[in-house]
Amino acid sequence: MIETPSSPSQLSDFDISESLAPSRENKAAVTTKVTFDGLLKEPLLLKEDLKDGCGGQLWPAGMVLAKYLLCRHATDLSDKSIVELGAGGGLVGLAIARACRLEKRIYITDQEPMFSLMEANIELNNLTPNATAAILNWGEPIPSQVPSKPDVILAADCVYFEPAFPLLITTLQDLLGPNSVCYFCFKRRRRADLRFMKMAKKAFDMEEIRDDPGAESYNRENIFLYTIRAKRSGPKKQ
Ligand SMILES: C[S@@+](CC[C@H](N)C(=O)[O-])C[C@H]1O[C@@H](n2cnc3c(N)ncnc32)[C@H](O)[C@@H]1O
Repeated sequence: MIETPSSPSQLSDFDISESLAPSRENKAAVTTKVTFDGLLKEPLLLKEDLKDGCGGQLWPAGMVLAKYLLCRHATDLSDKSIVELGAGGGLVGLAIARACRLEKRIYITDQEPMFSLMEANIELNNLTPNATAAILNWGEPIPSQVPSKPDVILAADCVYFEPAFPLLITTLQDLLGPNSVCYFCFKRRRRADLRFMKMAKKAFDMEEIRDDPGAESYNRENIFLYTIRAKRSGPKKQ
């Protein structure tokens, strides 16, 4: 397993927008209430704790992706099988589990250090019947409990560590069936991040989502939303 940088100090050039995610001057564990500007009637409670990795806080792309899905897809996600990759504390997947009347349980996945935080947040929100936390390391076989070709894959802010780029591509190739769609929210921080987009555009059909009214504001922060689908001509293994 390739170790990805887990402590925020290793990610010194992360530039978190104050307007999109709360600042964390004090890095002690906190519980944050999130309504996504009132889109959730009952707020989501998110325990944030950076002690086990960078996924332990809210990231701007996660806020953007969750808001977009709540605005545009709250109804059509209800009968879908859904897997979230690099879920951190579970912000995106749990927002969906809270707002959409999901007929199938959603799988929020990340590396082992994030597992207890994902579980804690599922419990905190009484979402145990609707959401399951699972360990899914990119580039490794998909665990048997996770749906193998889900209808929907969610991924927010998963591009930041170059050695993990091919692993994420492999996992997307493994998960994307002919009818799957991945909603992918990307924050460009460094030139290297564009290499991921180049690899992804070669491997998949990628389309920028342009029907989101909030796009103008988050595009200015170098955050972009895409759909990713398997190439119609058949995916090329890299
Ligand atoms: C910047 S955080 C984003 C968290 C969350 N999606 C959000 O938007 O708030 C990136 C997440 O990707 C996860 N991650 C990094 N490398 C991974 C790998 N090789 N396999 C699985 N998850 C990984 C990290 O543990 C972390 O939780």
